[in-house]
Amino acid sequence: MRIAIAGVSGLVGSALARAAQAAGHDVVGLSKESGTDVLQPTGLADALTGAEALVDVVQSPSLDEDGATAFFTAAAANLGTAAHEAGVRRTVVLSIIGVDKIAASETEAGTGFDGYYRAKYAQELACVAHAPGPHVVRSAQFHDIARQAIGWGRDGDRTTVPDLVTQPVAVDAMVEVLLAVATGEIEGDLVEVAGPQQENLALLSAAYAERAGDPVQVDGAPVGELVRDGVLLPGEDGHLVGPSFDQWLDATVTVPARRP
Ligand SMILES: NC(=O)c1ccc[n+]([C@@H]2O[C@H](COP(=O)([O-])OP(=O)(O)OC[C@H]3O[C@@H](n4cnc5c(N)ncnc54)[C@H](OP(=O)(O)O)[C@@H]3O)[C@@H](O)[C@H]2O)c1
Repeated sequence: MRIAIAGVSGLVGSALARAAQAAGHDVVGLSKESGTDVLQPTGLADALTGAEALVDVVQSPSLDEDGATAFFTAAAANLGTAAHEAGVRRTVVLSIIGVDKIAASETEAGTGFDGYYRAKYAQELACVAHAPGPHVVRSAQFHDIARQAIGWGRDGDRTTVPDLVTQPVAVDAMVEVLLAVATGEIEGDLVEVAGPQQENLALLSAAYAERAGDPVQVDGAPVGELVRDGVLLPGEDGHLVGPSFDQWLDATVTVPARRP
C-alpha cells in the first residue's frame, strides 16, 4: 500500500520509511527538506494523493510547552484536513506513553520535559479531531535517550540525569509496530509500544558514558511521584519489542580503543 510519512527525514521517519519499503510498501515522504511544510496547508493534499495511510512523526523545532503545542496542533490539523481531502483512510500519530496522565495531573511529573509531554497530548487530540481514521501510537523513550540525557545537565565532567523510570525501546523495533498500525495489521485506536525491560535513565546514561569512553560522572536527579509510580511505563496490553538497552548498546556503541 502507499503510506505517507510526515517527518520522513527524521530519526523515526527514516527508520519507518526503510521498514515500509522493506515490507514492499510505496512511501511518500513529507518534510521541509523535500519541499513540504506541514505548517502550510496549501498543496498538502496534493502531496498525499494516492496514500491510503498517513503517519505523522514530525518533531517541533521548539520543545517548550507553548511553542511545541502551537506547532504540533497546527501540523496535526493541517495534515488531518489535507488527508480527508486526499481520501486517506487511516492516520497514525506517534506520541509518548503517559502524556495523557501528565497532562491531567495537577502536579509536576518531574520528567524534565513535562511541558513537551503536555504538547504531545494536545497533538494527539488534534489528530483525533481532524484526521481520517485516527490512531495514536504511544511509545516509550528511545534507547538513545541515554546519550541525549548526558548533555541536558552537563557541566564539564559532571552531569545530572533524572532517575526516570522508563522501559526504553529501539527505534528500529518501534517503527515495526508503527507500520503495523498504519497497515491495519495491529488493531486498536490507542497502541503502546516499549522495550523489554524497565530501566533507570540515570543508570543507562552512566552505562552509555562508560561504554563510549566519556569520563563524565552521572548523578541521578530526583523525579516526581508520577514518574516514580511508572507513568512512563506501558500498560498490560503494550507491545514489548527488543532489543534490550544492553543489547542495543553492544550493537551500536563501539568500545573506544585503549591507548598503549
Ligand atoms: N525521542 C523519544 O524518545 C521519543 C519517544 C516517543 C515519541 N517520540 C516522537 O517521535 C517524533 C519524531 O522524533 P524524531 O526524533 O524522529 O525527530 P527528528 O529526527 O527531529 O525529525 C523531525 C522530522 O520532522 C520534520 N519536520 C519538522 N518541521 C517540519 C515542518 N514544518 N514541515 C514538514 N516537516 C517538518 C523534519 O523535517 P525537516 O528537517 O526537513 O524539516 C524531520 O523529518 C516526535 O514527535 C517525538 O515526540 C520521540
